[in-house]
Amino acid sequence: MLSASVVASVLVFVPSAMAADAAKGKEVFEQCSVCHNADSEEKKMGPGLKGLFKKAKMANGKAPTEQNVKALINAGGNGMPGYQDLLSDEERDNLLAYLKTL
Ligand code: HEC
Repeated sequence: MLSASVVASVLVFVPSAMAADAAKGKEVFEQCSVCHNADSEEKKMGPGLKGLFKKAKMANGKAPTEQNVKALINAGGNGMPGYQDLLSDEERDNLLAYLKTL
């Protein structure tokens, strides 16, 4: 059984100051928008990202879970640059928060 102190320390470590910020993510997305529409599914260089997280699967056949989308953004591939070293963790989290609003 979890003791109250364990539960309390877990709660303390939920970093509210680091909560992902979709508005900042939208700014990060500007560098993606050369290749991706955010307001439609219409293809530019890459697929339109409207409703991304509601899709059954992405072009690479994987489900659009947070983990898979993050991995794809990091790795790139098939004409998409990899963003592993181009984005900070914070930028990537904000970007993900923004993508979920599409
Ligand atoms: C130079 C053009 C280019 C840029 C810049 C780019 N992408 Fe892409 N992206 C692509 C292409 C092309 C694909 C399709 C890859 C495939 O078919 O497997 C893709 C695929 C994706 C997918 C999968 C969509 C799906 O439905 O399969 C996501 C999500 C994505 N990109 C997000 C981003 C984000 C976020 C950024 C900015 C950090 C970004 N891309 C920047 C070209 C680009």
